[in-house]
Amino acid sequence: MMRTAIIGTGSQLPERVLSNTDLEGMVETSDEWITTRTGIKTRRIAGPGEETSLLAAGAARRALAMAGVAPEELDLILVGTITPDMTMPSCACLVQKELKARRAFAMDLNAACSGFLYALDVADKYVRCNPAMKVLVIGAETLSSRVDWQDRNTCVLFGDGAGACVVTGREGDGGYLAGRLFADGNLWQLLHLEGAPGHNPGLRPNDHEQPSIMMYGREVFRHAVRAMADAVGKVLADQGVAPAELSLVIPHQANIRIIRSLADHLALPMENVYVNVDKYGNTSAATIPIALDEAHRNGRLRRGDLLLLCSFGGGFTWGASLIRW
Ligand SMILES: CC(C)(COP(=O)(O)OP(=O)(O)OC[C@H]1O[C@@H](n2cnc3c(N)ncnc32)[C@H](O)[C@@H]1OP(=O)(O)O)[C@@H](O)C(=O)NCCC(=O)NCCS
Repeated sequence: MMRTAIIGTGSQLPERVLSNTDLEGMVETSDEWITTRTGIKTRRIAGPGEETSLLAAGAARRALAMAGVAPEELDLILVGTITPDMTMPSCACLVQKELKARRAFAMDLNAACSGFLYALDVADKYVRCNPAMKVLVIGAETLSSRVDWQDRNTCVLFGDGAGACVVTGREGDGGYLAGRLFADGNLWQLLHLEGAPGHNPGLRPNDHEQPSIMMYGREVFRHAVRAMADAVGKVLADQGVAPAELSLVIPHQANIRIIRSLADHLALPMENVYVNVDKYGNTSAATIPIALDEAHRNGRLRRGDLLLLCSFGGGFTWGASLIRW
């Protein structure tokens, strides 16, 4: 059977590491509070030359090299992002320019932290129509540019980075088995970001000319656990798969307590759940493709393994995807 398969992965993180100890000097917080409430120890911060499109292009080059696909062979570039370099053109068009992927059409997809899962599902639909298509699917963010560095409720949580994968049609049992996507715009106030794209490599405090990310953390937490568990339950039921059959789960990396609650709900041992939120914090649409690339390069994925991806983010948006590697 012909299915959409991931044939290459890549990621790129900014050079600068910002630790919890560094944050202790910026806002009233402590390494102990951040670690116990979120699991985050460090995050990466983009500097000049590490704009969202450049991180995305870096991740894409690695994914293309692994896939053995030249940029000119790409048909479509999809970038999940809420922090494009500018409002127009899209981040995807800037990536297309960087890669010299002349044949590809390109577009961004805004589904906040679920951006990569949404983009992967869209890519699957194109490839199902034309299995020869080669699609670059990216999640890339520089949320440090849109955080109020005086707001301890949010600034400790987010980081910057990009992850990418190349997908195309492949004959066999493996590939993208199913995806379930959801949204509920009624709850938009609980997690939102107004205003136009911006850049803030100096981590200046919010001057209130540029709106910053707003979040009601406790409410978001509650919805995130419930919604992801529901999406996972649905996608597994669609495919007749039991949680115990999953070789690896890569959840959106926002908070270790959300991840543990999800693992508890699925009765999955944490050894089967990929965690790197400690290193990178919440990189929104980039968390899943960065983790996927790390897991792949670290040998955590073998042909035939069942892989589950799930996410939750602003919108609200959420979803789950099941892949046979
Ligand atoms: C943000 C989050 C870590 C806060 O944890 P929490 O246990 O809910 O904590 P609360 O918001 O109830 O705050 C508890 C106290 O810690 C304080 N606090 C908040 N941030 C702090 C920080 N960085 N350092 C120290 N104290 C902090 C609060 O002011 C509050 O103090 P108060 O009780 O005196 O008012 C948690 O709610 C969360 O992770 N939510 C989901 C966030 C998320 O994943 N968002 C993205 C989804 S895509």
